[in-house]
Amino acid sequence: MPGSAAERLARLADGYLVTQLLHVAIALGVPEALAGGPRSAEDLAGELGAVPGPLRRVLRGLAAEEVLVEDGDGRFSLGGPGRLLLPGVPSSLRGVVTARADIYYRAAVGLLDAVRTGGTPFELVHGQAFFAFLSAAPERLAVFQASMADRSAREAGAVVDAYDMRRFASVVDVGGGSGTLLWAVRDRAPHAELTLFDLPEVVDGSDLPAVAGDFFAHVPGGADAYLLSRVLHDWDDADALRVLRSCRAAMRPDSVLLVVEALVPERAVDDPAVVRMDLHMLVLLHGRERTAAEYVALLDAAGLRLTADVPTGAGVHVLEARPG
Ligand SMILES: C[S@@+](CC[C@H](N)C(=O)[O-])C[C@H]1O[C@@H](n2cnc3c(N)ncnc32)[C@H](O)[C@@H]1O
Repeated sequence: MPGSAAERLARLADGYLVTQLLHVAIALGVPEALAGGPRSAEDLAGELGAVPGPLRRVLRGLAAEEVLVEDGDGRFSLGGPGRLLLPGVPSSLRGVVTARADIYYRAAVGLLDAVRTGGTPFELVHGQAFFAFLSAAPERLAVFQASMADRSAREAGAVVDAYDMRRFASVVDVGGGSGTLLWAVRDRAPHAELTLFDLPEVVDGSDLPAVAGDFFAHVPGGADAYLLSRVLHDWDDADALRVLRSCRAAMRPDSVLLVVEALVPERAVDDPAVVRMDLHMLVLLHGRERTAAEYVALLDAAGLRLTADVPTGAGVHVLEARPG
């Protein structure tokens, strides 16, 4: 980030604006409207249901952040980051942006109180646990699952490239969400019997074979492989252990468990994305990102031993564990 210390700090402090500028652009349909080439705010406003003056200022804000490109005629086009606001493009971050602006944003206001009292910001602000809040309204759940799908789309291909899934005849994805990782497994192991396991409201309507349930109580038994992708980081050690024990109880002696998670770096600057994810866990849930040693200790407490640690190159490792 170039500039003086004061300029850098001022820009960081204005981060709250950038989150909402991105959200406004998506909600109005700006990326789609600019996909065909440069247009002015005046030209866009009627079509997008916006007032030209404020819309132009929002577009200029996005141009200042290089999300959009402003030409000399007052027209705007999509810059590199702007193109990733389009739906369905490779590496799209549309769902990621919307979840942050629409759901996580308000919860972050509770961070100071939570740091002082030890509570969870989301629960202090909303008076409700995160997953209960999502389950209470289909549109919230859809926003969250779209964000998970964006992130998982970046990770899933790297996971199945790094870890050979062809050896498995049956795979259960525990807390599998919209099933992005399981679709990637299906590409590699087309004959495997796949099961998406998640809360009823999440698996309802899935195109994958699905079982609804609560992973604290029970996980479908007897599969060759169990996936736990970005699930353990949602929970504190006691609850993460409950999930692992459910998986352990479902596994045969020769089953494997594949924990897909990021590992916290030694220093924050070594991997800022993992540090930010850890802060999402702090703001929203009772979870946290962990080191490899911390995952080994949890696995051990659940009667599982780490048999491989496979980096994927996409920010997550595949931690292979077996009963032992
Ligand atoms: C952070 S998301 C990860 C989704 C997916 N595995 C991925 O890698 O994108 C956590 C998932 O756990 C699910 N979940 C939360 N509580 C659950 C419970 N008690 N039983 C089953 N699934 C649960 C959520 O619905 C969500 O899909």
